[in-house]
This record gives sequence, structure tokens and C-alpha cells, in this order.
Amino acid sequence: MAELPREVFLPEAYVRRSAPPGWLTLHGGGPDTRADWLRLVNSGDSVVVELDGTGPDAAVRVATVPMPRYLAALHALAPKPGMRVLELGLGTGLGAGMIDRYLRPWHTGDPEIVAVEIDPAHAAAATERLASLGARVRVVTADAFAPELPRLLGGAFDRIITTFPVDDVPPIWRELLAPGGRLVTFLGPELHVVEA
Ligand SMILES: C[S@@+](CC[C@H](N)C(=O)[O-])C[C@H]1O[C@@H](n2cnc3c(N)ncnc32)[C@H](O)[C@@H]1O
Repeated sequence: MAELPREVFLPEAYVRRSAPPGWLTLHGGGPDTRADWLRLVNSGDSVVVELDGTGPDAAVRVATVPMPRYLAALHALAPKPGMRVLELGLGTGLGAGMIDRYLRPWHTGDPEIVAVEIDPAHAAAATERLASLGARVRVVTADAFAPELPRLLGGAFDRIITTFPVDDVPPIWRELLAPGGRLVTFLGPELHVVEA
């Protein structure tokens, strides 16, 4: 997992600056920003990848999960070879790429890793990035709360990780858990584990 090139998943990052107040775009293409961009994407900190609006008051729409937090969730998830694994909230694809790298030595046949993303643009970009690295992840553009999800995803999963915070675990996520399965999610700031 450590060898996963994070730059592929984070071609652009936004950082707040104080003077002049606003957001600065960092990317690998500009000699002025490349060093800061590389430092940020490899730092393990949360990286802002999409803003809601423009100008200094723009809010964060999508940011990656800080690496220590994602690794803690993966540790709790403990996926094993042969298991069907689902990520709800694919984002940049970085997390799904990490799961793929972890399970890759055991991959056979059809991809057992499925990832759901509500935003079609993020789903398309992540699909391309994952494919460029040979990752075997099936991406589905859908709402993680949609009642038709079990049908869309072709059944239940042994492991489910969700990357956006919720107030409660919705019944549809429990429905997606296979017998003996495990779901790891963030209830607010806390990591929460559900065993089926
Ligand atoms: C914290 S980011 C994902 C971080 C991801 N692990 C990564 O490595 O980039 C959360 C993602 O969940 C997606 N999301 C939010 N609500 C969703 C929903 N109801 N269904 C599916 N995806 C959703 C957002 O669009 C965003 O891309």
C-alpha cells in the first residue's frame, strides 16, 4: 500500500492561504506549486480536492480522509483474500486503490472490490486513475442510500467501509452486509464497527 502513487489520485489540491485570503490551487504541472503539491499529497494529511463555490469564501466540498484515520478504519475492516469488499464514498479513488493494493496478491477472476460514488465526475476520474494503475475495482455511480443498491451491486459484502460521516448506520447498509460480515464507518468523528 505504501507504494501506491498518491499523486495519481490527487492531481490538484486546494490549500487555504491568508494573504491574500483565499484558496491556492497546487498541482504537479506548475514549477511554482509542484514542490508544495508533492509535499501535501504525500503528507498523509486530508487533501481538499473540490470546493463548493469560488472566491475566498468557498467551502470544502470533497476532501480525502486523513491517512491515519483511513488506516485505522482499514485496520478495523481487516479485509481478507476472497472477500467481497465495498467502499461507499469512492472520492478520488485513493482508498479503493489502497484496498486493491492490499488484496492484489490474492486477486483472481472478477474484481471483488466495488466502490460507490454519488458524483459522476469523481466516479469517472477515479475509475480512470484506478485503471491506469491496473487496480481491479468496479466503480458504481449511485447514492449510497439508494434502496436499489443491493440489486445494483449484485448482492452482499463481507466488508464495507464508508468514507463520509453519518449520524446513524442506515438499514440499507446493514442489508448489504453478508452473514459474518463487518462494516466500518465514521459516526461523526468516531470510528464505528458493525458486525453482522
Ligand atoms: C471523504 S470523501 C472520499 C475519500 C476517499 N476515501 C478518497 O480516498 O478520496 C467522501 C466521498 O463520498 C461521496 N459521497 C457523499 N455522499 C455520498 C452518497 N450518499 N453516496 C455515495 N457517495 C457519497 C462524496 O462525493 C465524496 O467523494
